[in-house]
Amino acid sequence: MAQAVATESTERSFQRVLQIIEECGTKESALIPILQKVQDEYRYLPQEILAFIATALDVPPATVFGVATFYAQFSLEPKGKYIIRVCDGTACHVRGNKTIIDAIRNKVGLKEGQKTTKDMRYTLETVSCLGACGLAPAVVINDKIFGHMTPDKVVSAIDDLEKEVAK
Ligand code: FES
Repeated sequence: MAQAVATESTERSFQRVLQIIEECGTKESALIPILQKVQDEYRYLPQEILAFIATALDVPPATVFGVATFYAQFSLEPKGKYIIRVCDGTACHVRGNKTIIDAIRNKVGLKEGQKTTKDMRYTLETVSCLGACGLAPAVVINDKIFGHMTPDKVVSAIDDLEKEVAK
């Protein structure tokens, strides 16, 4: 029974990927837009879907894998529902981003070296620069930027997120 459910789920996944390919086209130049949409849909790029895309576009699997691993926006590992990116660029570093990272880890229950919570709710990442150095230290939660962060402010932003989800 579990296998039947997994198969149905996999078939649904492939059907959704086929829709994405129809929207973007089957030329090799459509590969990045396809991967972006798949990443948006699943929050990562499952290996079996990369292989499926390679077949659908008639390109070598290594080409698809190469693009998927080249760009930082793509992930081959499942990510949490909420992706928290803390800037680790110079401006943010000198303004105390480490205390913000520690506050986030304590708040969501992430140990050192652990990126995603066990319940798949939060993923914590560092990025080299968010392009908002004037707002240092800066944090992005999903696509919303938060500037001039402090440990208290970032905890408050996560609390607000939890309240929104609870509504
Ligand atoms: S160094 Fe943090 S936004 Fe540029």
